Amino acid sequence: MRFTQFINTLAVGSLAGLVAAAPLGTRTLEVTERGESLASRSTSAVVTVSALAVSTINNSQGQSTAKNSYTLYTGDGSVSAGWPAKSDWLSFDEMWKANEDIINESCENNGWGENNSAAETANLKAAIQSVAKESKVDHRFILAIVLQESKGCVRVKTTANAVSNPGLMQSYEGTGSCYEKATCSDAEIVQMIRDGSIGTAYADGYGLAQLINMADRTTVAGFYRAARLYNSGAYSLESTDNLVSTSGAATSCYASDVANRLTGWTTATTKCT
Ligand SMILES: *[C@@H]1O[C@H](CO)[C@@H](O)[C@H](O)[C@H]1NC(C)=O
Ligand SMILES: *[C@@H]1O[C@H](CO)[C@@H](O)[C@H](O)[C@H]1NC(C)=O
Ligand SMILES: *[C@@H]1O[C@H](CO)[C@@H](O)[C@H](O)[C@H]1NC(C)=O
Repeated sequence: MRFTQFINTLAVGSLAGLVAAAPLGTRTLEVTERGESLASRSTSAVVTVSALAVSTINNSQGQSTAKNSYTLYTGDGSVSAGWPAKSDWLSFDEMWKANEDIINESCENNGWGENNSAAETANLKAAIQSVAKESKVDHRFILAIVLQESKGCVRVKTTANAVSNPGLMQSYEGTGSCYEKATCSDAEIVQMIRDGSIGTAYADGYGLAQLINMADRTTVAGFYRAARLYNSGAYSLESTDNLVSTSGAATSCYASDVANRLTGWTTATTKCT
């Protein structure tokens, strides 16, 4: 779930009239300058940071033992700050297996209608891989965001805040959604994954691919920073920010949750309070 309120607060706080405010004056604004507002954006983004781009989709590459535990990661998302290295991530197959029963039952468990059918779940799994190929966003990262946003329920409710966040990835004004639909077509499922991974036509509708590019890192921290940006907005992060305690961030532990999902966290009690 994503909110725009934080972006506005920070944008006002750090850009407008803050010349005189000493504490914030030392912070460097990075990522993107907000001024160049687009009327609409291209929806064919790919990860261009070569160290983070996935070029071949291999579902068995990665760790094979899911660790169902929660570590509260704080700091800048780097391995030296304790965050998981990419080599600590589960393989896509293991990550899927660890979450399959959660995905199968997610709709009824959350009051979003009937559970996914077998075909809908199979199409979700295939859509994550095909969009990963198209966008070069690591398929495990897409799955982690899907789990974080909807637990994989194709009929997940649209969240309406200042902007509407529909679908499996609760995208920014995306067009894909199966909310209140009895059956969810493959085309809708692919659209929901594209909306979140590649972006929507809205100026602020960045998907994971662009956010990884905007995260300004060539290390695994680029993913954790992109998770932060996906949750609280493309302009919500500065170079020194703690990805978890960033004040005002929409869901404070979002990036830590995503890191834990990538190593196998499913049902263990969160340490984020
Ligand atoms: C996929 O990854 C596994 C595990 O690292 C490896 O054994 C296998 O050769 C890879 N497959 C391809 C097609 O690269
Ligand atoms: C759907 O999920 C609910 C909630 O966990 C579960 O009790 C039920 O057995 C599931 N239904 C089907 C058809 O899988
Ligand atoms: C989830 O549902 C699929 C399709 O019905 C089924 O094949 C699979 O065994 C289920 N997995 C779990 C862990 O219940």
